Amino acid sequence: MSSYRPLAAVVLAAGEGTRMKSSTPKVLHDLCGRPMILHVLDALERLPLERIVVVVGHGAELVVKTVQELLDGEVPVEFVEQRVQRGTGDAVSVALTAAYFDDHDLEDDLIVLPGDAPLISPDTLARLATAHRNEDAAASILTAIVDDADGLGRIVRGKDGRVDRIVEHADATHDELAIDEINTSIYCFRRNLLAPALRRLSPVNAQGEYYLTDAIAVLRDAGHRVIAEAVEHPAEAFMVNDGAQLADAEHALRDRINRGWMRAGVRMIDPERTYIDSTVELAADVRILPGVILEGRTVIGAGSEIGPDTRIVDSVIGADVIIANSVVRESEVGDGCRVGPFAHLRAGTQLLAGAKVGDFVETKNALLGEGAKANHLAYLGDVTVGAGANIGAGTITANYDGKNKHRTVIGANVRTGSNCVIVAPVEIGDGAVVGAGSVVTRDVPADSLVRGVPARVVEGWVDPSADLDTD
Ligand code: UD1
Ligand code: CA
Repeated sequence: MSSYRPLAAVVLAAGEGTRMKSSTPKVLHDLCGRPMILHVLDALERLPLERIVVVVGHGAELVVKTVQELLDGEVPVEFVEQRVQRGTGDAVSVALTAAYFDDHDLEDDLIVLPGDAPLISPDTLARLATAHRNEDAAASILTAIVDDADGLGRIVRGKDGRVDRIVEHADATHDELAIDEINTSIYCFRRNLLAPALRRLSPVNAQGEYYLTDAIAVLRDAGHRVIAEAVEHPAEAFMVNDGAQLADAEHALRDRINRGWMRAGVRMIDPERTYIDSTVELAADVRILPGVILEGRTVIGAGSEIGPDTRIVDSVIGADVIIANSVVRESEVGDGCRVGPFAHLRAGTQLLAGAKVGDFVETKNALLGEGAKANHLAYLGDVTVGAGANIGAGTITANYDGKNKHRTVIGANVRTGSNCVIVAPVEIGDGAVVGAGSVVTRDVPADSLVRGVPARVVEGWVDPSADLDTD
């Protein structure tokens, strides 16, 4: 049964992408936090493929390294290098030299697609492969009807309505240029028929290239069946060739991501002003205000409200958190925390449940215990703050002596007054109070009051706010 033929995919990604006018290889340009080619590979990963072969050329080393680092799918990926870019037909010939094809029977079907089609969906690819098998075709072309076919290959049909061949824009006659059915450059082929057809290609054409598109006429002339499958959503076949198209593709992808989350129970006040990477995960009942950018491996728990104007990168945010007008990077924010407005949580910040970081507070490598508060104007770097501590306005941990960084430990329920400088390394015991304007240079005993410059213990002090019903 033909429907049991194994399925593999070939991704063409050797081209230079000159129109991007960039030193970055085209397929590595970023869309919604992931290089273009990764979006193509993510779609392929959702098909029952035996193997993915990526043809690399321009920037090969970087493309291979990036894909290997970022792809976490299960389908084995193999790279082959097309040293000279002699056209899409040559690129597929090179792909067929991959080790996988050597020791694999010839019977498989091959999905071939370019690495610069980041909007293609797994459903469309699956539909193409299904039609290909159901019709027992040698080649199946995903086509689209477009308003502007400029630069694209046209589908030329015979009198019987069947696909005869594809003509490239540069080689088309006046009449052929009027055809509005175009080749998306996404195909499914029978490998055992494609391989000999590729050997029949010649570069005698306007671009002097071996066109994969010419394999269609070769197969037809040999009496094989070629079908065209129209793409249901033409936007999916959108190819990125320059910076403006990259922005258009990203806009479309962003819209798709946002709609997906809104259907999953996330509320967005203004999806047009909400920017979520494809790698982000959101729980139900997350509420996103305008101007929010969520990047990388960020996760946000149920019921949290983010924004307005907030950027969160590679961070894990718990449930029922509120973060307003802030920047958060490589941090963890526990359930029920409040952050901002105008806070900056830098790498290594960890806020335990119910902690609060208010306006104009910067943290870095800082652990704030449960319910700890730094409400205004503070710098907390390389510090552990105990549960329930209250960091006063203007408290600074002076963690840098000009040479090395040192750590500060602030105990549970410590209170620091306004404008304190805590010079690390230093430890402030549980329940201690640091008077306003102090400069703490030595360890502070638990439950004591220190004040002054440098801060000294105030003898005989009794905390007026301490538990009064003990006597
Ligand atoms: C190709 C199709 C055209 C189709 C259009 C859709 C051919 C000859 N033409 O044209 O019918 O309408 O796509 O966008 O196939 N590549 C290689 N090695 C090469 C040449 C290209 O890997 O030697 C890769 C490129 O990196 C790119 C893809 O193949 O990802 C398409 O190549 P490109 O030159 O952009 O083809 P188009 O001229 O756009
Ligand atoms: Ca070309």
